[in-house]
Amino acid sequence: MVPSSPRESVLKCFDEKYGNAPEYLVRAPGRVNLIGEHTDYNDGYVMPLAIDYAVWIAFSHITEPEVRIHSIDFDQSIVMPINNALTKGEGWSEYLKGLINIFKHSKFEIFGWKGVMAGNVPIGAGLSSSAALSLALTRAFGTVCNWDWNPSQMARICQLAENQWVGVNCGIMDQMISALGQEENVLLIDCRSLKTTPVPLPEGVRVVILDTGTRRGLVDSAYNERRNQCEAVATYFGEKALRDVSYKQLEKAKTKIDPIQFRRARHVIKENERVLDCAEALRLGNLDRVGELMIASHISLRDDFEVSSEALDLITECARKAQGCYGARMTGAGFGGCAMALVNTKSIDAFVEQLLKDYAEASGREAHLYVCNPSDGASVFSAEEFLLS
Ligand code: GLA
Repeated sequence: MVPSSPRESVLKCFDEKYGNAPEYLVRAPGRVNLIGEHTDYNDGYVMPLAIDYAVWIAFSHITEPEVRIHSIDFDQSIVMPINNALTKGEGWSEYLKGLINIFKHSKFEIFGWKGVMAGNVPIGAGLSSSAALSLALTRAFGTVCNWDWNPSQMARICQLAENQWVGVNCGIMDQMISALGQEENVLLIDCRSLKTTPVPLPEGVRVVILDTGTRRGLVDSAYNERRNQCEAVATYFGEKALRDVSYKQLEKAKTKIDPIQFRRARHVIKENERVLDCAEALRLGNLDRVGELMIASHISLRDDFEVSSEALDLITECARKAQGCYGARMTGAGFGGCAMALVNTKSIDAFVEQLLKDYAEASGREAHLYVCNPSDGASVFSAEEFLLS
């Protein structure tokens, strides 16, 4: 279950640990992707929303050149020097090390701070708890060090830290949406130019996260393999990325391309088209069309890109049959974790009841469902705001 209010937890714990109130609080959200999967690292389009589950940090300046941070969720305190060379290790503090390392290389001036951190983004569920962590840490540094906050630039830095230090070759989607999410909107992101266009989620519809209760296994190697396969097809056409290859070109070259690589590329090219169609359908309030595109996306991820799982297929099938559902699909990298559904607000209770029952009967597992609201991206608050309220 999602614990309630990490904001209260960090405020209380900061006071207990340091004997006074923090100066600031930052909040950076997780995400769910409505459509546009495995397109970001092909310079394509994605359309995620930031969710109302987030990582919070309460913090204050210190004069020493170090970050002292306590994680409530991991029940662990660390002290990280910011001027010494750092060595690689394991666990959540790698995100902090990766960021410090990138800040130094990018010539950002950094100062010390002490803080307490907690979050309620389920970990390893495909909801980008790591991007939320990276953006929250970066927002804290940006505040203490008085940087001009440029969200896309900060998203890129967080992505680089994850690529270079943590060793996950992820694209830019998760960091962009955690940095730039907007209340009540999904965000159409062009992952090449980093242009973002908010698209309001029509009234009368809710996004429901469907946690299968399974967790992805060794996803990194399968992810990198997909990425290489896509890049190989782009190279075959002499292009920078699959974004530059049309479906017509791909079809023409079908007999010359390895069949697996052909299917991977077909997914990406078609998925880019679906994202743009979906943005248009949302603008027109045509939810049936949005639902159709979500289902087509899932089928393509299952059959052509091969990143779904039995649990993800099952939960999306159960969701599609439940009352009020326009469409459902896996979300994020795949192989386990969460799917999502678009559901008529009036039918939410009936949808949840039916899905929990049908999924339990079909899989023997308990699903966890979160009805979520599109939220703002990484934000900073003066702690006084909350201490007085
Ligand atoms: C993970 C990565 C993203 C993106 C998705 C798949 O969440 O971090 O960059 O590639 O998988 O769409």
